[in-house]
Amino acid sequence: MTKTLLRALNGEAVWPPPMWLMRQAGRYLPEYRELRAKAGDFIALCTDPALAAEVTLQPIRRFGFDAAILFSDILMLPWALGHGLRFAEGEGPVLPRLRDQAGVEALDRGRLAEAIAPVLETVRRVRAALDARTALIGFAGGPFTVACYMIEGGGSKDFAGTRQMAHEDPDLFGRLMQVLTEATIDYLLAQIGAGAEAVMLFDSWAGVLSPSLFRAHVTAPARRIVGALRLRYPEVPIIGFPRLAGVMLADYAVLAGVNGIGMDTAMDPGRAQWLVPKRTALQGNLDPMALLAGGRAMRDEASSILLAMRGRPFVFNLGHGIVPQTPPEHVSALVELVRAA
Ligand code: CP3
Repeated sequence: MTKTLLRALNGEAVWPPPMWLMRQAGRYLPEYRELRAKAGDFIALCTDPALAAEVTLQPIRRFGFDAAILFSDILMLPWALGHGLRFAEGEGPVLPRLRDQAGVEALDRGRLAEAIAPVLETVRRVRAALDARTALIGFAGGPFTVACYMIEGGGSKDFAGTRQMAHEDPDLFGRLMQVLTEATIDYLLAQIGAGAEAVMLFDSWAGVLSPSLFRAHVTAPARRIVGALRLRYPEVPIIGFPRLAGVMLADYAVLAGVNGIGMDTAMDPGRAQWLVPKRTALQGNLDPMALLAGGRAMRDEASSILLAMRGRPFVFNLGHGIVPQTPPEHVSALVELVRAA
């Protein structure tokens, strides 16, 4: 196996470590802004295989990362199930609020295959364009994080309405989680079938839950998804990203059964070493703001992560997505630094 990302996710302490960055395709790149303007709308960009494949490949050409990540969005799954979605300029995603049984029943797994067809075509095109060293990562949102956006109708500072529903109406919330978990399995199986070589589950809001709800709505669905993918594609590694999980990372690492775990910005890499068994790869976790700052701050932070991770399976990444103001030259400098580790 020549792809360093896949070797690391299979438990090998590859050094220097493979690297890619969350949101590596995006507004910080002038070539992205240009194509984005051409496509007009963000959903139009995600569902145009030629443009989406091009955007996926832009950061690979510029920086030579070890992995490309499919250009799409976690909210394309509810969109594909017939739940509305639009991206309002400067406002983020806007969705209808799901608050009752009728809302759950309206989600239609029957339309998933047709709706995601362009995304799968993007996967095929990117895979065909990548060289022998660069792996292709497919992804979906963790069902809990997707539920958060559906229940709130968009972003929120603390997703209070979602947490309230999980406590107050566990039947309704559980049914929603079940539909999303099964649809996520269909979606990821289809991405792997189209050529994704690893997949990542982005559970960005996992950290807002109490421990018992974290086990029920983050760890358990991840375990169910991992089990279903393994049955069909035992060789395809799975990365979990239960953001802001804190000490719950220990349960997640053992019970979810993922091959790799994304550390968020707040996680101490030294501490993660003993929360997560050594056979599980760690990924992360440079502060996106250190990348924005560049220079000394970036070098010091990146070096201390590299020092802590040497000798164990590791994938260098950020602790959350690149912010749009980031100078691309800072990314080039980071790539040089990690390659020289
Ligand atoms: O990482 C990559 O390069 C692959 C593509 C990708 C996007 N979103 C593209 C995107 C991935 C993996 C995501 C994941 C995603 N989307 C998450 C989980 C990771 C995280 O950041 O916590 C979440 C919560 C979303 C939902 C989402 N999509 C929000 C809240 C927003 C608005 C905020 C923003 O940054 O604009 C988006 C839009 C979005 N998704 C953009 C991109 C490049 C910006 C769209 C634009 O060009 O205007």
